[in-house]
Formats: sequence, C-alpha cells, structure tokens
Amino acid sequence: GGDPWKECMEAAVQLARRAGQIIKKALTEEKQVSTKTSAADLVTETDNFVENVIISALKEKFPSHRFIGEESTAAGSKCVLTDNPTWIIDPIDGTCNFVHRFPTVAVSIGFAVNQELEFGVIYHCTEERLYTGRRGQGAFCNEKRLQVSKETDKSKALILTEIGPKRDPETLKLFLGNMESLLKAQVHGIRVIGSSTLALCHLASGAADAYYQFGLHCWDLAAATVIIREAGGIVIDTSGGPLDLMSCRVIAAGTKEMAMFLAQEIQTIHYRRDDEN
Ligand code: IPD
Repeated sequence: GGDPWKECMEAAVQLARRAGQIIKKALTEEKQVSTKTSAADLVTETDNFVENVIISALKEKFPSHRFIGEESTAAGSKCVLTDNPTWIIDPIDGTCNFVHRFPTVAVSIGFAVNQELEFGVIYHCTEERLYTGRRGQGAFCNEKRLQVSKETDKSKALILTEIGPKRDPETLKLFLGNMESLLKAQVHGIRVIGSSTLALCHLASGAADAYYQFGLHCWDLAAATVIIREAGGIVIDTSGGPLDLMSCRVIAAGTKEMAMFLAQEIQTIHYRRDDEN
C-alpha cells in the first residue's frame, strides 16, 4: 500500500517553504552575527529562530521522532543517527552568504529511518526553487524531473566544491593543493557558491559534473544525497568507498568515472566526525 512517509514529506515541504519566506525577508535586514567553530563558521539569530520553527512544528506532529539540527547540535544536542525516524535539518545553509546578503541560501530537511535516507527537501530561499527527492520515486525541482550529467571525461568537467570552516595553514595547503591538482588535470572549471546543499542541487540538476568537500556536516548532506541518487547520481566517500553521513566528507558525481577521477585526485583534509564528542 501507500507511502508510509508521505505525511512527513508533505510537512517537510510546507515547513521548508515557510522557513524560506522568513529567511528571504531577513536577508536584507540587520543581523546579529556570532561565530562557532572558527572565525568563518557563522550563525545568526535567524538560524536559531528558523531551526526552532521547523523542529517545534515537527515535534508536535511527530512526537516520537528524533531530530538532528545544525544549531541544536552547536548548543550541545547529541548528533547520532539511530534506527528511529530521524529528521536532519539545516535551517540556513549558506549562513555566510546570508550574512553578506549574497542570495544563495537554502533550507535543508532530510529524513532517515533505520539509518536509510527516505526523502530530502531543499528550498532555495530567494529563487523559490523547491528541490525534492523521495527514495524510489525520483527527484524534482518544482515540477521538473532532475537528471544528473552523464559526462565521463574529466577534461570536460565542471566541478563544485566548498571551502569548509577551517583556515589553519595545513588545511589551506591541502584545500588549495586539491584545486591545483584538478586544474592541472585540465578540468573545465571549479566553482564555490557558498552553500553545500545548493551546490549539490546543481549537481543533481546536471548543471555540474562532480562535487567534493571536506568539512561539511550531515545536515548539509542528508537531503541532497537522496535528491542526487534519485536524479541518477552517485554519492560516496572521498576514499571511493561507501558514503558515511557522519564523516564530514563527500564526493558526488553524475557518473562513476567522474567520481573515481575525484577520489584518485584529491588528498584528505581531516575533520572531526559529526557523531564524535
Ligand atoms: C556551510 C556552507 C558552506 C560549507 C560548509 C557548510 P552552513 O553550511 O554550506 O558553504 O563550506 O561546510 O557547513 O554553516 O552555512 O549551514
């Protein structure tokens, strides 16, 4: 019979849109900005407010479910994925963009049961694009079905990455070294847009051929992983092995060839796991 998580996904869509309206309005207003793990890891009162709006509404509807939220985790909540139905939420992905009024910000809501991702909802707040993916049922942007790029040739690749929060000399050396390796391998280009989730949505849409990052979190990855897989893409660990949602590293690509090219080319940048404390 029907989809057991349909009601959950509908709630996610509704809340992502509601949160998106709040974020869009707040984008051009004065903000209270604080730092978290580094001087480049930012949070505003809107991040906390929106996370609270989403989680309190979901808790009321689904009182037995678990929640992993970016700002709740920063405030000390445990970040562990159990077999229970679990919501994995980033209230504002692209907080640094948000702070600067750079209009590339998203709300990301993922949902897992028995440690398997069931659906993902990502809302582009300023362009009002809703990305959704439901396991086994495809991925969409608004009403349009998403399909990844089928490019296998590295010399025709457009690659996306994000910088991550660390700025120590060793991290910067590795980060820039990875970019240098890819440029030396003659890829077409590399883009950094300031939002992991929206970069991953571009990958799902076929607007880029591959994505890699160290230092992103499970809330940057959960929803996007379903969307990319349902658009025909690959989401794996940077070693080339299976994805570990809590490992803070990822390669995503339209084809296996492109994913393996990245896995061979890039050096590991070490970040603490999300479920380590
Ligand atoms: C961050 C952004 C950033 C990426 C980080 C993410 P946040 O999410 O996507 O571009 O480099 O790794 O954690 O903090 O804005 O939600």
